[in-house]
Amino acid sequence: MIHQPVLLKEVLKIFNPKPNQNFIDATLGEGSHSIEILKKTAPKGKILGIEFDPVLIKEAKKNFKKFNLEKRIIFVNDNFSNLEKIIKKNNFFNFEGILFDLGISKWHFKKSKRGFSFQKNEVLDLRINPKLQTLKGFEILNLWQEPEIEKILREFGEIKRAKEIARDIVRKRKIKPIVSTFDLIKILENFSKFLRRKNQKIHFATKVFMALRIAVNNEIENLKEGLNQAFKVLKVNKKIVVISFHSLEDRIVKNFFKELKQKKLVKVLTKKPIVPSIEEIQKNPSARSAKLRAIEIQNKNYKLQINSNFQNKVKSKIKYQKSK
Ligand SMILES: C[S@@+](CC[C@H](N)C(=O)[O-])C[C@H]1O[C@@H](n2cnc3c(N)ncnc32)[C@H](O)[C@@H]1O
Repeated sequence: MIHQPVLLKEVLKIFNPKPNQNFIDATLGEGSHSIEILKKTAPKGKILGIEFDPVLIKEAKKNFKKFNLEKRIIFVNDNFSNLEKIIKKNNFFNFEGILFDLGISKWHFKKSKRGFSFQKNEVLDLRINPKLQTLKGFEILNLWQEPEIEKILREFGEIKRAKEIARDIVRKRKIKPIVSTFDLIKILENFSKFLRRKNQKIHFATKVFMALRIAVNNEIENLKEGLNQAFKVLKVNKKIVVISFHSLEDRIVKNFFKELKQKKLVKVLTKKPIVPSIEEIQKNPSARSAKLRAIEIQNKNYKLQINSNFQNKVKSKIKYQKSK
């Protein structure tokens, strides 16, 4: 059984896939959105499916085979920040829309053994692509300086007590290196009261794990680059749909779309973000924080660069840390 696609009905309503149309899935995961799109685009519609995880993409291939859809999907094991190059390399120029369903898959939590789930005691690796990425989660905790750890907790996790947590991490790592998910949980237990959001049933470690994962996988910069390239490659009347799972990502998407709208380049199809229904959240609680935003391209006579100063700063810090 593959995982339930988040906001599937809403994605299909916006793309409105018809027989023989093509689409790009920039975050293929286990393929559950793409499988449903392909069912609607039979007999000849194709999907260019991009997934950065080299192990997960093999699992996805099995899922498409089960549905006899493997001939209508082109699998690309790459980062969506290389979207333009990927499209050129695969000669895939005729398509109706691009889907970004951000973050990581259920498979990462359940089966990857890379420390994404704080319910399992695993090495805190957190890389989506261990073949290409070098920086691991536990390296940030053990090698980075206190202000740098504080910065990622504050900026990527939006954690108020970032300074105190960073200080405690640095103090504890002198006694014993922090290597596993449970090593980190033990430190965070002292802050559980502050980390637990009011009226929400999220685990107190959620935001710290998320901040580390965002830093390890360069997720903010990749998102900005992916969106920028998606706009560049799409023709008039074609669409971008983005599903995000935390406010930092959603803000980037919202501001990017707003900027394009102000320049009269796109029509925003979602005045407010679309969120899952209560029924969907009951069936699939991990969908609860999802927000969907979409645009349709209206005008292409403009060259656009979005502001990536913030992430460039973070990137230079990461380089600095790595070279130490
Ligand atoms: C939320 S999941 C997608 C789930 C998918 N829509 C489905 O229904 O099965 C996001 C996926 O995007 C992948 N991913 C994350 N960042 C990526 C990037 N920069 N480039 C390509 N894939 C990425 C993750 O490995 C993960 O499998």
